[in-house]
Amino acid sequence: MRTLPALALAGLCLLLAPRALADGDPARGKQLLFERGCAACHSFDGSARPGPTYLGLVGKTRKVTTQEKPREIVADEAYIRRSILEPNHDVVEGYMPGAMPGLAMREGDVDHLVAAIVEIGGAPKPEPAKGGKDGSLRVLAAATLSFVLGHIGLSSLTLRRPLIQRLSEKGFQGLYSILVLAAFVWMIFAYRAAPYEELWRAPAWTRWIPVVVMPIAFFFMVCGYSTKNPTQMMQEKAVGAEPRGIVRITRHPALWSFALWGLGHIPPNGDVASVCLFGGIASLAIAGMLHIDSRRKIALGNAWEPFAAKTSLVPFARGGVGKAFAEIGIVRVVVAILLYVGMLHGHRMVIGVSAMP
Ligand code: HEC
Repeated sequence: MRTLPALALAGLCLLLAPRALADGDPARGKQLLFERGCAACHSFDGSARPGPTYLGLVGKTRKVTTQEKPREIVADEAYIRRSILEPNHDVVEGYMPGAMPGLAMREGDVDHLVAAIVEIGGAPKPEPAKGGKDGSLRVLAAATLSFVLGHIGLSSLTLRRPLIQRLSEKGFQGLYSILVLAAFVWMIFAYRAAPYEELWRAPAWTRWIPVVVMPIAFFFMVCGYSTKNPTQMMQEKAVGAEPRGIVRITRHPALWSFALWGLGHIPPNGDVASVCLFGGIASLAIAGMLHIDSRRKIALGNAWEPFAAKTSLVPFARGGVGKAFAEIGIVRVVVAILLYVGMLHGHRMVIGVSAMP
């Protein structure tokens, strides 16, 4: 039951993936370019017209204004499709918003137009963007599934018991870490290579959500990894001790940091790949909390109940916040703030897009 949200999410990714593979007919598209008047404003050969030429468009980095903010975007199929359906969403540098008319269009016609523009604009051969943007959403779905199912599978007693017998507890934890890390790295690469397939148009204010949520996530992360906690791997023995610091606020601080990270990043992105990646991480984190609770209850028996009674799964549900913060101390708060500020500024460098709202 607990794995249900993660599985549902992964299934959703697989369902949505084929949307990225819609095919248009370039020959029909070229006819449409003339019939619909596009060719009057867009040349195929680089010659000047009221709009930018299609020549060499695909794979080019476009400087555009989106919601009044300048940004750079690689012209791929999704960008071209968006340019046709909502010309004023990304306005190319040097052009006025409204210069391209919004034209009512049948969905199939858009596919044909995109196919034609890709064919015209694809010469010279589109350079694969950083990380090779030729990946597909199916690969991302597979990577996310292996990350989520890898966790679930290795945590299930059927696999865990025999493996621990062979490898010892330490050896098993090592194998576990290597496997999920590998799946995580694969997932990140697949995400970066996945096409942008829009699910919803994120309003500008949604960019504030991660800006507000991430300091809390960093705080939980720093405290979570620096505080003894029987819900953490190989720290079961701490169950007898009085909960301290962040554990008074929630007994799953580290997992909450992942859940907040994932959930906070979904609204402002709004594309299939982001829902897959961030949704996968968040649902695994939340499923993990429930799973660890039930597993510890079995493994630690009577020792678990008093600890569970003194702590809560949901942050701040039990009060005692003043005491908790006194124990957490200023150093952890400062470290969390530094990490947050560093990430806020380094986001563009590390991830490629600015995190500033
Ligand atoms: C009245 C002139 C005009 C017409 C007609 C027109 N466009 Fe445009 N188009 C523009 C201008 C100007 C821009 C750049 C400003 C912007 O991005 O909105 C543009 C941008 C684009 C872009 C992004 C190009 C880039 O270099 O980044 C695409 C793709 C595009 N148009 C496709 C079409 C298609 C397909 C049609 C016909 C269905 C069409 N346009 C009709 C003027 C026009």
